[in-house]
Parts: sequence; C-alpha cells; structure tokens
Amino acid sequence: MSGRVVLAYSGGLDTSVAIKWLAQEYGMEVVAVTVDVGNERDFTVIKQKALDVGAEKAIVVDAKSRFVNEFVFTALKADAVYQGQYPLATALSRPLIASILVDVAVVEGARAVAHGCTGKGNDQVRIEVGVNALAPDLTIIAPAREWGMTREETIKYAQEHGIPVPVTKKSPYSIDENLWGRSIECGVLEDPWNEPPDDVWGWTKGGGLKISEPDYIELGFYQGTPVALDGKEIGGVDLLLKLNELAGKHAIGRIDHVEDRRVGIKSRELYEAPAATVLLGAHRALESLCLSRDQLRFKRGVAGEYADLVYDGLWFTAHRENLAAYIENTQRFVTGTVRVKLFKGSATVVGRKSPFSLYDYGLATYDKGDNFDQSASAGFIHIWGLPSRTQTRAQTGREDIPPAGAKNPRG
Ligand code: ARG
Repeated sequence: MSGRVVLAYSGGLDTSVAIKWLAQEYGMEVVAVTVDVGNERDFTVIKQKALDVGAEKAIVVDAKSRFVNEFVFTALKADAVYQGQYPLATALSRPLIASILVDVAVVEGARAVAHGCTGKGNDQVRIEVGVNALAPDLTIIAPAREWGMTREETIKYAQEHGIPVPVTKKSPYSIDENLWGRSIECGVLEDPWNEPPDDVWGWTKGGGLKISEPDYIELGFYQGTPVALDGKEIGGVDLLLKLNELAGKHAIGRIDHVEDRRVGIKSRELYEAPAATVLLGAHRALESLCLSRDQLRFKRGVAGEYADLVYDGLWFTAHRENLAAYIENTQRFVTGTVRVKLFKGSATVVGRKSPFSLYDYGLATYDKGDNFDQSASAGFIHIWGLPSRTQTRAQTGREDIPPAGAKNPRG
C-alpha cells in the first residue's frame, strides 16, 4: 500500500516508531495528527518531534471545547459511569479522535488512517469502530498490533532509526489523560491485590486528605449542563480545569477499578477524576430534585446502557443517538444550583435548589405549615393493598386473622 496515511500521534515512543515503520513497511507518507483533549502536553514539541522522526506533515488539533461540549457533557447528562465506577474519560475521547482522523484523511487525500493501540485494549476497538462508522472505505493500520515488538525491541528499533528514546527513567505506568480524568495502569497495579503506591497519583495529592478546612463550591446547571461556578458563568473547559484543581487538592476522585474490557479481559485500572466526581454527584443531586420517581428509575437504566455503549466504542451508532435524544429531553428542567463540600477525599452534596424543584415543603414538613391530608392516606393504602389482599385470600385459603405467631401465609 502506498500513498498517505493519517496517524493519531501522541508523541510517545510507540507512535514515533510507527511513523518510521509505516514509511518502511508500507512505503507510506505519514501525516501525524495530535489531538488536544486537555492532556497538558507541549504540543509544539510534539509537532516538531513528528517532523523530526520523518512525518511528511504534522498537525495539532485543539479539540478541548468539542470534547467537553459534545462528548463529556452529554455523558454527564446521561449520568454515564461504566460498571458503577469509571466516568469514561479515555473512552469518551476516542470517538472524537476517530472523527478527527477521518476529517484530516479527507482533507489530505489519504486512503488510510493509523493508530498506536495494541491488540489487547479497548481503544483499538473504539477508534476503528468509530472510523468504520464514519468512513467505511478507509483502510485502518495498527502498527503496534502488527509489528509484534516487545518494549526492548521497540527501543532498539528507535535507536537504530534515530528516534529519540526518553532517557529519564520512564514511569512504570501507562497513563492517558484528558479533561475528564486520568487513567493509570500497568506496573505493580497489574496485581489487583497491591494497594496503589503513592506515586500513581498525579492530580489527587495524598496531602489533600490532611487539609483541615473544607472548601465549599456552588455549581449552577442549565438544562443539565454545568454553566456557573460560585455564581459566575464559566465555560466548560475552564470549569473542568478549575474543578480538577480544586477537588484534586482535596484528593477527591480516586477510583480503583477491576474492569471488564470489550475484548474479554479483566484489567485493573486506576482513575483520577476530580472534576467528574464532583459534577456527576452534583448533577444527580439536582436530578433528584427536578425529575419524578419514574423518570429517575427509567433514566438509571438508560445511564447503564449509555455507559456500556460509550465504553464499547459504539458512539457513532443510531442506538446511542436514540438514547441521547431521550436523555436530552429529560434535562429540560434540570436547572438550578448545587452546593458541594470538598473535604478529605470526598465531594458531598450539602444543598440543592431549583426553580423547577418538585420538592414541596408544605407536603414534606412535619412542622406547622403541613398541607398534606394524612386522612387521605388510609383510602390510598386501602386501594394500593387491594391486590395483595386479593391474592392472599384467593391463593392461600386464609381469610381469617392468623393466630399470633403463625407462619407467613405465603411462606
Ligand atoms: N481502561 C480505560 C478504558 O478502556 C483506559 C484505557 C487507557 N488507559 C491507560 N492507562 N493508557 O477506557
């Protein structure tokens, strides 16, 4: 295969080697694309490195705002958390990267795209299924999956081809970061019995557990989207940066998860998600005020389905769009303010209010001002319990009041 290939380039060893390898093995010209989803790197250095290593062209795409507004906040409205633990930071960035690869391929006239994922993880699935959905005719090349090199062999290949190998002692962990969270795996973490050593945590410092004063923040939501911090309007990207810092300082958002990958492997991964932890908790608290019991119950099921879809790389599917339409509609009245206490590793919702609140003081109070008609409950319970009484009478043959100490008639 010849011609141009658009490579998702991180600046790391594997994707740098991939630039050379694609040129050598496939005889292709490489357009390196680095997507900025808030991974705090020096993108000018990365761009230059791609060119030095042999890319024909290197492009950096600032996708932070798209990432937050199209992907992260949609997942927040859904309350999407995979297996009840993982807020999906890495997973949410992959469909966006896939769509950028496709866009660049069109502009650059490339017939192939490539990525640096191995054959064991979820990210290969997400990127490739995403590219398939958007541009079924593009060829996808996964060098790291094809070349079968060990880490030592990759380093040797790099040295032989003049690719700079980081001299500093490399972190023993594999880390992926964006504005919604930091994912950490490998090294000693591969034994799920090992407690995470302190050096895995980058955003949530252990000292945060010893801070003696809490911080309080107020988050304003408009139709399910967070739009204000402490009464001031704030854009999504800035809000996440700020919350990662504020909540990270109190060591909030550490997650230790043995998860089920799409390819069938169980893996142990740690996450740091300070902003996500705060926002997901605050959003759910506001929904508890503004949505009915039926809406909350049904939406919980949708949240699980949605989280699985995102995790499994099915972002660009009709099924996800159907669910997103439902989720969007549920958010019409999820507007209001939530007060959160940040303290010793926890984000606790301590107050919530909304102009559309379904909470009625007159109905809830046990003090004066109570306008709930308690006498009406007797009739309600009479009807509500009717099927139970009917079934007991019809199917247990017992009509009489059972003698004291009698067995449960159904038992
Ligand atoms: N397990 C997470 C997922 O599949 C994160 C994957 C990337 N993690 C990493 N440490 N490089 O979404």
